[in-house]
Amino acid sequence: MTDDWSRWLDEAPEGDPSDDLARDPAPVVRLRRRGGRSGGARRPILVVGGCGGAGTTTTTLGLAAASAIDGATTVAVDATAAGSDLALRGADKHLHPVNLQSWVYGRGDDEPAPIEDCLSRSTSGFGLLWRDATPLRRRATYLTVARALDAGGYTAIYDGGNPIAGRQLRPLLDDADIALVLTIPARVDAANRLRVTLEWLDDHYGDDGAGVVADTTIVVSHQYSQDDSRVAEHLREHLSGWVREVVEIPYDPHLARGELVRHSELAEATRAAYGSLLAGVAS
Ligand SMILES: Nc1ncnc2c1ncn2[C@@H]1O[C@H](COP(=O)(O)OP(=O)(O)O)[C@@H](O)[C@H]1O
Ligand SMILES: [Mg+2]
Repeated sequence: MTDDWSRWLDEAPEGDPSDDLARDPAPVVRLRRRGGRSGGARRPILVVGGCGGAGTTTTTLGLAAASAIDGATTVAVDATAAGSDLALRGADKHLHPVNLQSWVYGRGDDEPAPIEDCLSRSTSGFGLLWRDATPLRRRATYLTVARALDAGGYTAIYDGGNPIAGRQLRPLLDDADIALVLTIPARVDAANRLRVTLEWLDDHYGDDGAGVVADTTIVVSHQYSQDDSRVAEHLREHLSGWVREVVEIPYDPHLARGELVRHSELAEATRAAYGSLLAGVAS
């Protein structure tokens, strides 16, 4: 195996600094909300993949189940541009015909419809909002979505898919209240490619020690029973002090099927891993 284990964010930027300015305006300051969250709601979480097939949807479902089991009224939200398989994989109780776009559009009066009437359902107790590639109407964005969920006292876990530069994710990334989770499979190439995502975050949101990179949790999913076990260890060594934490999700035969996920059918160790991931991210 050819390991590269790229040097990470420790290299000084090269080239003409004026170019950098032209290409890259001042980093965005992430805004913290003014009031507190409504009673019982946890910190919202955005899950984004460092590459395709990174475990993003699986991690969203695992976190949503852990959050619901912990007592928060939780919704897993498809925040990809073209629609993911979030509800097809997670709505093991009821797949509702209403999608996120129709919910946000509501009755056309800029008020989302009552969310309880629009949610698909998982047996572990969380709701799901699925979407397809149709755009959100009437200038709604994921800020509209986040505000409506927040006002309703819901804890939102967003499946952002990949890549992180997707325009629809910007309002969620701009909000410092939303915790960021970056997922990769336990492979050397994925660990090396993670660098691009971290650099994009560093370029766009700055990192003075309190920026988004420092608030990011890396999740390494073992999708094959023989996955490289050194990937997480390597990332911990190189990224400690830069990111919040590097967490591993063990290989789980139920998840490996790629079908409908029932949280109760996961191995005890897998459920525990999602529980401690949630505790670390949302604290
Ligand atoms: N811990 C795990 N154990 C076994 N298989 C997994 C695990 N996590 C993810 N997988 C499998 O890996 C594949 C990719 O995961 P998925 O969550 O769909 O990635 P993404 O949403 O980033 O494309 C899926 O088929 C999924 O079932
Ligand atoms: Mg996915």
